[in-house]
Amino acid sequence: MSELTIKDLHVEIDGKEIVKGIDLTIKKGEIHALMGPNGSGKTSLAYVLMGHPKYKITKGEILLDGQNILSLSPDKRAKLGLFLGFQYPVEVSGVSLSNFLRTVYMSVNGQKKKDVGEEVLSILEFREFLKQKLQELQMDQSFANRYLNEGFSGGEKKRAEVLQMAILKPKIAIIDEADSGADVDALKLIAKGIADINKTNNTGILLITHYNRILHHLAPDYVHVMINGKIIKSGDKKLADEIEEKGYETLRAG
Ligand SMILES: Nc1ncnc2c1ncn2[C@@H]1O[C@H](COP(=O)(O)OP(=O)(O)O)[C@@H](O)[C@H]1O
Ligand SMILES: [Mg+2]
Repeated sequence: MSELTIKDLHVEIDGKEIVKGIDLTIKKGEIHALMGPNGSGKTSLAYVLMGHPKYKITKGEILLDGQNILSLSPDKRAKLGLFLGFQYPVEVSGVSLSNFLRTVYMSVNGQKKKDVGEEVLSILEFREFLKQKLQELQMDQSFANRYLNEGFSGGEKKRAEVLQMAILKPKIAIIDEADSGADVDALKLIAKGIADINKTNNTGILLITHYNRILHHLAPDYVHVMINGKIIKSGDKKLADEIEEKGYETLRAG
């Protein structure tokens, strides 16, 4: 059983503590929503899970399938099956979306498959797969040849992240503000794309969001509220409804 386990995690940046003791376990197949107001440390937590070098872990552990991954670089974590969808995906001029995805596929899954003698998608098969995924996400086929995220709208960038996830088939995916910059139609496609990979690949999802807009289209099994570096409350879908109704302030007050 694959799982990501976070134990009493404390994180500092520039000497300031931002994550103040987080405990959280995400098992394969589960969808967890991590909610909280701006500045509560959600993105910092996501970066730390993926291994961003800027953050200093002062206490705690991060385990993937029981293995401590704290000393591993982001690419090693990716190879173990961890994925991060960025809140603000970067634009990369000169690298086409299809080349990028093919490179990522080969470096994360391809070599591993070769090592155990499994089939690796050929370039042609890969193109066919990409074509189908673009269709599902209602992205024009011309996106394959466009430079990664360059000139993409907010919703298109987010769909490109979902595309990347669909190709990598991670064990656990952390998706930071999947809905930022996306309109209602894009939001539905993004939610569907995430739900599909959760179902077909049994990927465990940590969905970071400051509102529950996306949760109307993607039902979480668990909802956690993070305020000021700590998870102050966990519950089920009803907790997200409560937040929509009353805001974070009442939770903060206790
Ligand atoms: N690189 C950084 N340098 C200094 N402070 C940072 C940095 N990144 C995040 N912070 C601070 O950490 C806090 C949490 O930010 P963040 O993790 O982005 O929260 P959220 O994603 O919940 O909005 C904020 O006060 C933010 O200003
Ligand atoms: Mg954030």
